[in-house]
Amino acid sequence: MANLDALFQAAKGAMEKARATYSQFPVGAALLTQEGDIFAGANIEVISYPEGWCAETTALSHYVMAGGGKITDICVIAEKKDLCTPCGGCRQRLAEFAPPDAKLHLCTMDGIAETTSVGALLPLGFEAEVLSNKSQN
Ligand code: THU
Repeated sequence: MANLDALFQAAKGAMEKARATYSQFPVGAALLTQEGDIFAGANIEVISYPEGWCAETTALSHYVMAGGGKITDICVIAEKKDLCTPCGGCRQRLAEFAPPDAKLHLCTMDGIAETTSVGALLPLGFEAEVLSNKSQN
């Protein structure tokens, strides 16, 4: 599918821009919306290690700044790890902006190799509704 091809290429292109200075583990991520827009990002590391952030987070930043949209597909790629899956924090961030049925495509350097979903990666996640039920506690 043309859009998924473009999504994979965007994730791979973003990975080339990673600033993985300390881990030497470049990651790329790209988000596709229903409207056909693609937002990509790479991990960016800084010398104070916990202050760096993941590829998915960079991609989400571009997505939010551009005004958002319904996310239908996500690609994640890491040149040193086939089928690299999002870390726990990024699963939470992705679940904030993408519906549970948004497809998450895990990649090799050659393309999409396995597909799962945002919901499958974060079962029993912390969801916004809990904040409107404070009186129950
Ligand atoms: N990393 C990501 O960018 N996304 C993930 O989902 C997994 C981990 C980055 C963070 C860090 O810059 C490097 O990979 C090594 O952990």
